[in-house]
Parts: sequence; structure tokens; C-alpha cells
Amino acid sequence: MLWILPLVAHAGNFKKNFHSTWGHDRVGMLDDGKLLTLTLDKYSGSGFESKSRYLFGKFDMKIKLVPRNSAGTVTTFFFLASNGPVHDEIDFEFLGNVTGEPYTIHTNVFSQGKGNREQQFKLWFDPTTDFHTYSITWNPHNIIFSIDGLPIREFKNRGSIGVPYPISKPMKIYASLWNADDWATMGGRVKTNWKEAPFVASYGGFRITAFES
Ligand SMILES: *[C@@H]1O[C@H](CO)[C@@H](O)[C@H](O)[C@H]1NC(C)=O
Repeated sequence: MLWILPLVAHAGNFKKNFHSTWGHDRVGMLDDGKLLTLTLDKYSGSGFESKSRYLFGKFDMKIKLVPRNSAGTVTTFFFLASNGPVHDEIDFEFLGNVTGEPYTIHTNVFSQGKGNREQQFKLWFDPTTDFHTYSITWNPHNIIFSIDGLPIREFKNRGSIGVPYPISKPMKIYASLWNADDWATMGGRVKTNWKEAPFVASYGGFRITAFES
């Protein structure tokens, strides 16, 4: 299948390669599509998805996370192929925190509906003051999660010993900002402070080099 898909390079313009999926009036395309903002208020979060599906490649997304008190909020950048009950998914989720406390990065891989491969990381910088690049490299051998070019996690294809691996279904790219204060911050003990709303996460550019389907 791979060799019949065209290899494409997409960069920089959210208007061209993405569209909003929910909370539409809370998805802002600024600077002629070079900057995208997602907003969460007490009525709704928001999200967007890629127009195309991709199979294998390198995907970089620049994100500036919700500043100040972001407890209870979750910002995401993930890949999903959902046909039927079994789905493939590769996730970056950013769990907000109270002012000055560290964000948690949550990574996960689902294949053929099987998940439970979460791994969490604490960030070594404040992700709310500048854009940082969060990348996923996905090929038949492994999936690598990186931050600013530094690999933080490798998920190997161990299909030969029976571990499901996302190998055949092209995925769309998704991003969202939503309220998950039942679990996101310190296991749900810290709730979203709606006085701080609206919460805004910014997506400041992307680069996709991948097979497009
Ligand atoms: C928030 O900060 C606390 C205290 O530093 C820490 O224990 C926790 O893991 C942080 N992250 C989340 C998402 O709760």
C-alpha cells in the first residue's frame, strides 16, 4: 500500500491543511492561517483536524500551552484512525496545572483498539511562555515522541511477538482544548477555575512530511 501513496510536505498554513471540528467559533485562524488558537470557556472547548489522512512520516507541531492557572484543562495533539470499534491512535496530551506548577505530558499509543501504553513526563521548561515543537515520527519500525528535537519516548513495533502496532491505517491529525477536571490535574483534585476563562492554547505552525492518502 505504501508505495502507491504520494509523499507530501505540508507546512505552515492551517487554513490550507486543517479545519475546525467542534467549538467552531472558538477556533481562531490568525495571520492568514499561520497561527491557530483554541479556546475553552465554561460552555465549550474546541478542536481541529487535518483535511488529509497520513500513513507514516514526521509531524511537527509548535504549541504554546494555556498560560497561568491551567488546572483542569487538557490540550492535545494526536493521530487517530477510527474505523469501527478498533482504532489506532498516537497521543500527546498536555495536562494543565496551577500557576507555577509543572505541566504533565501524557503520551499513549493505541493499536487495533488496545491502549494502556501511557507514559507521563514532566516538562523541564515552562511551555506557556513560548512555542515549543512537539513531534511524532511514525514509521513501520517505531514511533518516536520528541520535544524540541529531543526524543522522550520510543514505541517499538514488536508485532513479531504479538504486540499490536499501528501499521496499516492512515490517520488524521487532531488537536483540541477541553475541560477534563475530573482527572487531569492531580488526579482530579484540582478543578478548573472558571474565573480564569477563557483559556487559550496557540498552535504556531506545523511541518508534515508523510505519505498522504
Ligand atoms: C502539578 O503540580 C503538582 C505539584 O508540583 C504535581 O504533583 C503534579 O504532577 C502536576 N501536574 C498535574 C497534571 O497534576
